[in-house]
Amino acid sequence: MKLSIENIYKFVSNAEISALKTDAEKSLKILHDKTGAGNDFLGWVNLPTQISQSEIDDIQATADKLSTLADFVVVIGIGGSYLGAKSVIEALSHSFANFHTERQRPVVIFAGQNISEDYACELFETLEGRSIAAVVISKSGTTIEPAITFRLIKKYMENAYGVEAARERIVAVTDKERGAMNTIAKKNGYKMFVIPDDVGGRFSVLTPVGLLPVAIAGFDIKKLVEGAADMEKTTDVAIGFEQNQACIYAAARNALYRKGKHVEILANFNPKLHSFAEWWKQLYGESEGKNGKGIFPASVDFTTDLHSLGQYIQDGKRILFETVLSVENPKHKFTAPADEENIDGLNFIADKRIDQINKCAEQGTILAHIDGGVPNIHISIPQIDEYNIGSLIYFFEKACGISGYMLGVNPFDQPGVEAYKKNMFRLLGK
Ligand code: PA5
Repeated sequence: MKLSIENIYKFVSNAEISALKTDAEKSLKILHDKTGAGNDFLGWVNLPTQISQSEIDDIQATADKLSTLADFVVVIGIGGSYLGAKSVIEALSHSFANFHTERQRPVVIFAGQNISEDYACELFETLEGRSIAAVVISKSGTTIEPAITFRLIKKYMENAYGVEAARERIVAVTDKERGAMNTIAKKNGYKMFVIPDDVGGRFSVLTPVGLLPVAIAGFDIKKLVEGAADMEKTTDVAIGFEQNQACIYAAARNALYRKGKHVEILANFNPKLHSFAEWWKQLYGESEGKNGKGIFPASVDFTTDLHSLGQYIQDGKRILFETVLSVENPKHKFTAPADEENIDGLNFIADKRIDQINKCAEQGTILAHIDGGVPNIHISIPQIDEYNIGSLIYFFEKACGISGYMLGVNPFDQPGVEAYKKNMFRLLGK
């Protein structure tokens, strides 16, 4: 992974970034020493290097078993119990995977991430007559969206397969001892995986929360963890500011925030990274948006959104900075064709790789946005694969912890998410 902040220097000086060096290093140390706010939720810091081979093997074996049992696996969860797995699977999958009839692995369908009656109904219409399994992911078991969906799925599967056979097809990922899902799983004899006590939802993608669905979809979870483990080492507390990409990114965004750049847009030029940005938004939004502070995390898929939000980014209120997530090499080779008639006047791109055109769009966009007053941070990975996605995940997690401490908040709690629930439960007559 490469990080470049050279395109923010028109907006913040090198001296202003350097002034944050001590703060960034202090925040990194606090994360490692576990002496800061939310220090009982820092299990993710050393997770990639500490996850045991036996746990990975158990996850893989369970994923393989479910794939032999089912053509469709419904993965139920929301927020931190959903977005990580969704983002990794979407990044690594064929763009049209669900239209492919010959598959080695089951289709992973996500559910329990909304309360839409139509979504629920259409899910069961789709499952009818198919061979299915389910993974329910909930630390508490009482989160309303996955809880409703799990009730429906459990009943459906018990009717379809009988209670005994349904048991074999359901796996729970939940708290080690507490919570409703722990009780339900034990009572019903489901295979269980544990969400560690000291890992919060949005930092849990490298636990069974993310690894099990990713393995079910047929991707290499060892490589994912390996990428994260290498990033854990290169962002370690022993690595000083100048070499520590997590510290540099955290310092850059805090410097921009202090200059009134209150919105960070994560921009990709590859639609496979759409859900990765959704995961990133939860990570940063839930970690930093509190006490009246925080950078608002937004995201765009370019070039698609250049034809919609591009106008605002170029010309609207100057409160934005942009972080471009770039992929150096596509998996495939494809060129634009020449056309004898050339009615559209586009023969100047004939025989050029589609990716070359995309890269010119990327460079052109970055230059235009800087000219328009939008500072740019650039992050690139060589290609989309398990190793590089794992590495990016850990990079963003680490930078998020550092950045949150620099901002002066507890990056590991989320008191604000309870407010709407109180109202909803009151309205439901709880
Ligand atoms: O990051 C978080 O803590 C949240 O997004 C939770 O993961 C989400 O609310 C789901 O909670 P649970 O796993 O208890 O169902």
